[in-house]
Amino acid sequence: WKIWLVLALLAGAAVWYTDRPPLSTVGRVAFDRKLAIPPLAPSTVVDGFRTFDLTAAGGVTDFGHGGTRTAGYNGTYLGPTLRVKRGERIRVRVRNDLEQDSTVHWHGAILPAAVDGGPHRPIRAGRTADMRWTVDQPAATLWYHPHPDGHTEDQVMRGLAGMFLIDDDDPRTAGLPHEYGVDDLPVIVQDREFDRRGQFRTRPDFSSDIGVLGDTLLVNGVIGPYREVRTSLVRLRLLNGSAGRPYEFGLVSDHEAGDRGFQVISTDGGLLAAPVARTRIRLAAGERADIVVPVRPGERLTLRSLAPSPGENLLVRRFEGGMDSFDVLELRAAATLTPSPPLPPVLSDLPPPDPTGAAHERSFEFYQRTINDKSMDMHRTDLVAVAGTREIWTVHSTHLMPHIFHLHGQRFRVLDVDGDPPPAELAGWKDTINLPMGVRFRLLVEFSGNADENTPYMYHCHVLRHEVEGMMGQFLVVAPGREKYAAIRHHQ
Ligand code: C2O
Ligand code: CU
Repeated sequence: WKIWLVLALLAGAAVWYTDRPPLSTVGRVAFDRKLAIPPLAPSTVVDGFRTFDLTAAGGVTDFGHGGTRTAGYNGTYLGPTLRVKRGERIRVRVRNDLEQDSTVHWHGAILPAAVDGGPHRPIRAGRTADMRWTVDQPAATLWYHPHPDGHTEDQVMRGLAGMFLIDDDDPRTAGLPHEYGVDDLPVIVQDREFDRRGQFRTRPDFSSDIGVLGDTLLVNGVIGPYREVRTSLVRLRLLNGSAGRPYEFGLVSDHEAGDRGFQVISTDGGLLAAPVARTRIRLAAGERADIVVPVRPGERLTLRSLAPSPGENLLVRRFEGGMDSFDVLELRAAATLTPSPPLPPVLSDLPPPDPTGAAHERSFEFYQRTINDKSMDMHRTDLVAVAGTREIWTVHSTHLMPHIFHLHGQRFRVLDVDGDPPPAELAGWKDTINLPMGVRFRLLVEFSGNADENTPYMYHCHVLRHEVEGMMGQFLVVAPGREKYAAIRHHQ
């Protein structure tokens, strides 16, 4: 009978473990606060560098739960939007007024490892870092957040994050909605949970494998926001800035039944070749997409995240990695709208990825909190790549849950998904990709020309709890002919 008792207890535990009821705020969000638009960071040109100043500091923010202890850049929650142009030399002075080490990682930026903001270059409390590089990548919606050793998750959860937008001069895309805060809206989506004292919960449920899954959404730091719009097309720069939760975004109107279709125009690292019509788009933590939404006069459009199979199968829910349903943001259309120019049919040159001539093929298995059975070690270099080359990387999760692959300082294209061509919305430049359980992604990684034998870049799971728990590796990008030297030196 003892065996039966043990089995019964195990079965009970298994049910408890998987049986978190699905959450839904659909139809229950008041949309009674105005959406905040993070201010554009002011800049001055000093010695040929467009120069920005960021100060990371703690503070108290009122989300409607009394004062919540938070942190932000140049404010108490989130940070300003940095907007720069391709070709510009930029300089960001980052002052750390937190009580612990921090960094600023430019997620999606192609830049030298020394200014990537990884854990090897901490900015000590009270100090200022000076980060300079030349913007050399196409127009894109990027973001920035801290990445210090062991504290990425808690610093991001406190509120340290912001948008980093790159523009370019491609005349083909001059007609895209681009008036910041008017027809071009940053939409930073984060889940949080407030405790009885109005503070952010930081300890996850026993049943959560991906950190705190909040029951409340913040959009640009506002709960239940609405925004008035007055153009016939509105561009939403969607950023999943959550620590681990995925979303599947769609739109519905109060004027008609069914989904409002939209056009996906960009992925993490830049514009697609052409707009792609969709009614839903899934974004894992760290991923971005710009979508353009058609708006009708006088309507209310709700941006929503809908779990594809809400609660039908508890195990499926678990494999989805914390997918729940949320009302996110309400767009309130003016009674008369200014007509927007039609979307350009061609957005960028995006030749099909060509894997011929790839310098290496490597495979990365995400399991538990390891990548290829290894846990993060700041003193170990996991691989050395040569600047300016391309490699084929196969990434997959063999764990009973999704993980999220993110690569620092470089960009990649998806060659295939379990042997099939990628869906159109994954066909552009990427730096972050969701890895559903068991699905193999072959990526064509393009290493930039930035070589440095001393400072590694990171690749890791972008579920921030997993990153903190060691699901991360390091790589060097070195000049041609230097790979053996760099590898030996870093392994002793
Ligand atoms: Cu957005 Cu290494 O992370
Ligand atoms: Cu993970």
